[in-house]
Formats: sequence, structure tokens, C-alpha cells
Amino acid sequence: MSAVVVVGAQWGDEGKGKVIDFLAQQADMVVRHQGGNNAGHTVVVGDEEYRLHLIPSGILYGDKLCVIASGVVIDPRVLFEEMDYLARRGIGTDRLRISSQAHLIMPYHARMDALSEDRLGVNKLGTTLRGIGPAYMDKAARVGLRVGDLLQPQAFAVRLKRVLDEKNRLFARAYDVEGFDYDELLQTYLSYGEQLRPYVANTSVIINDAIDAGSRVLFEGAQGTMLDIDHGTYPFVTSSHPVAGGACIGAGVGPTKISQVYGVVKAYTSRVGDGPFPSELLNALGSDIRDRGHEYGTTTGRPRRIGWLDSVVLRHAARVNGLTGIAVTRLDVLDGLPELKIAVAYRYHGELMQEFPDNAEMIDEVEPVYETLPGWSQSINQVRQFEDLPDQARAYLTRISELIQVPLVLVSVGRERTNTIPLTALF
Ligand code: GDP
Ligand code: IMO
Ligand code: MG
Repeated sequence: MSAVVVVGAQWGDEGKGKVIDFLAQQADMVVRHQGGNNAGHTVVVGDEEYRLHLIPSGILYGDKLCVIASGVVIDPRVLFEEMDYLARRGIGTDRLRISSQAHLIMPYHARMDALSEDRLGVNKLGTTLRGIGPAYMDKAARVGLRVGDLLQPQAFAVRLKRVLDEKNRLFARAYDVEGFDYDELLQTYLSYGEQLRPYVANTSVIINDAIDAGSRVLFEGAQGTMLDIDHGTYPFVTSSHPVAGGACIGAGVGPTKISQVYGVVKAYTSRVGDGPFPSELLNALGSDIRDRGHEYGTTTGRPRRIGWLDSVVLRHAARVNGLTGIAVTRLDVLDGLPELKIAVAYRYHGELMQEFPDNAEMIDEVEPVYETLPGWSQSINQVRQFEDLPDQARAYLTRISELIQVPLVLVSVGRERTNTIPLTALF
């Protein structure tokens, strides 16, 4: 039995796409199980760069079944755009399966995302404005529309009418903006339904059958632990469960079936969007790392906030995900820095804290306590063996693993599939 969950250990954009692409070489199936097109996963193969938002990164291989499971929220327009984008680059999507239970992102969700951010003003969350939060709100409120509904046109028409009437009343009365036209929306979504029909399946059965048959299944997490709605920096989080348990819920797979949980750790920290970030570098060094690392959002193009690696965050990630290994990415971005810092604890009103605070007010006031390690001067982009890394780079990696008590299983030293150092058998 081999089911591997890959999660982001920080605030997203850790390089999950790159790590998934590397692991997918050995997998039979790749599953997206939460989030939606707020994700932006980049994979570089040779001279080609692919940016994926909804479709699992395994699609780039010709022989992997790719599944969008029930925990994902799907904007069909974005999905079709992504399928076209891949088709234009010679990549077929007939190996894609989509859960009938996945919820749909409707145009009113994206509108509501923008209106609510606008109303929050300076307190905004800095969402991706893709309608993710409002779609998950409707799911929890039990007024969501699902992929499977599109395949039952008459029932869909009735449900849409009921939901849209309510949404339009809200737009008019609470926001004083125009609503959406029922007939137009109905026709658009029913035609989406016909396009989706060949891909729709009971994905929990497909995934469990594959695991039981001894296939290798890879779960591609989106976002990161600190963006989890329960275990992240609430309210500055996304509306799904990026932690490992989210794979079980979002894919319909029991926890007993998961064999490994790998956390992807960027060798420093980044965050896009608002909210607390204790080890943030609000100085020239932060800008320098942003520039050398081209740290701009894959989905929204926003500059990412940059900070030192934070082992308090990583210890939290190790615990709430039950990490069995870490994959450290972007180590090459640190080439040439004379010294590196790692936050090893926080100080709160003079007291030392080892664990990430569970209280939003405290998080705003903590001061990181840093440990300083020497940097390395050479370029590590071409290194393919752990032993060939500079001593200082090995010491940095070893210290990270030691601080969080999780073994290092992979190091990434560049964007391409080949710039990767696996340390152990990964499945
Ligand atoms: P994801 O959302 O976690 O999949 O990460 P993104 O794709 O949004 O952002 C990660 C960025 O880092 C992408 O541009 C990747 O191509 C790039 N990347 C991944 N691993 C490495 C690495 O080891 N070195 C460098 N220089 N870039 C990397
Ligand atoms: P990947 O999978 C980084 C952030 C947004 C915002 C918060 C809520 O590429 O790592 P949302 O639109 O989800 O309601 O926004 O979450 N966010 C991400 N940050 N990487 C992502 O995905 C993200 N997806 C959402 O910036 O702060
Ligand atoms: Mg990303």
C-alpha cells in the first residue's frame, strides 16, 4: 500500500508543484483534494514552464491518472481554460477524473469575494479573489451546487433558481450592486455540465481501488499549513484544509491508508496576502531575496513577502500534519548570503515560547529568537548528491531537520525536474 501526501509546511508556494512533479515519476495516480484555482503550481521540464491551478501536476506525464477529488472547489471556466492551455502544449487531459461531489465556484462567489474584501478595507485578508471562500461558505451552509448537479439539468435548474434568488437579494440589499441573470447562468452552467460529463466519476472509489490494488497514489496538497482554516493564522487563512488530514476528507480515503506525509519547506519563508508573519524581513535583504528568487505569485502576480526560515512554524507543521519527511526547496536561492538565520523560538513579553501561539493577538506581538549559521559562496544548482553540497549547506539542512525532528528526504536546488537531490526511497 502506497499513498503519499505532500503538503506545504509554511504559507504556500513552497515548491509543491516541483516536488510533486519529481515524485510523480514513480506514481500511478495524482490527486488534488482541496482548494481550487487559488493554487498556482509551477513545474519546469527542460525549457518548458507549466503553471497549473486546478489540474494535478501529474498530468504532464502521459501515463498517470489525475483526479480532482470532492474536496476541491471547481470553477469550470478556469478548468476548461487550463485544459486548453495544456492541449495547446500537446498535453492531453483524457486521463483526468473529476468528482461528482466537488462543489462549483459560481460567478457570484468571485463577486462576493471582491465585495467582502472591499468592505473589509484595511482589514482585508488579501485573498486571490477567485471566489474560494464564498464557495466553501456555501458548501458549509448547504446551499452549494456540485459537479454532479450539472448532469441533472432539471434538478439543477430548480436548485440554481432558489440559490440565485437569495444571492441576488443579498447583492441588491446588502451591497447595492446588480445580481446575475438566471437564464444566462443556467445555460452557461448546463453547457459546462455537458463538457464535464465524460470526466465525472466517483473518485473516492477510484482512489481507494487504486490504493488497495497496490498502485502508488500521490496527494497534491495546495496552499500551506499556516493557511489551514483550523491550524493556520486565522482569519488570515484560506477556507479549506491544506493539512494532511485534508487529503483524507477531500479525497474520501481513510487515514489508515496513508503511508507517508511529506512537508515541502522553502529554505526561507514567503507569504502572499495579509496576516501575521513573525520572521518577515522588511528590509533590503528581504527585497534582495524576493528579486533573486523571483518571488511573485503564480496566480495573482503579487510580490511575495519574504522572511527567514522559521522552525517554530515548521514544528507546528510537523505536529499538525504528522510529517514523516521534509523536502527542502529553493536552497539555491540562498547561494552567496554570508549568513543565514533560523527562528528557533519566539519571545512574548519577555517569555520564551517554543510552540506557535494558538491566539491571534499573541502572534502579532511575538519576537523571533534567531540562531545564525554561516552561508556558502558557491552555486549549488548543479549539485546532485547530498555529499557534494557545501559543508555550510549540509549543516543548514541538518539543523532544520534536527530542530523539528523530522528526517530530510529531498533537497531541491533549482526549478527544473533535474535539479533535485533525493535522499531516500520516497514511496
Ligand atoms: P507551489 O505553489 O508550492 O507549487 O509553488 P509555486 O510554483 O507557486 O512557487 C514556487 C516557485 O519556485 C516556482 O516558480 C518554482 O519553479 C520555483 N522552484 C521550485 N523549487 C525550486 C528550487 O529548488 N530552486 C529554485 N530556484 N526555484 C524553485
Ligand atoms: P499554492 O497552492 C500562497 C492565500 C491568499 C490569501 C489567503 C486566502 O500555490 O501554494 P483565498 O483566495 O484562498 O481565499 O485567499 O490564502 N493563498 C495562497 N498563498 N499560495 C497559495 O496556493 C495560496 N492560495 C491562497 O494569498 O492570503
Ligand atoms: Mg503557488
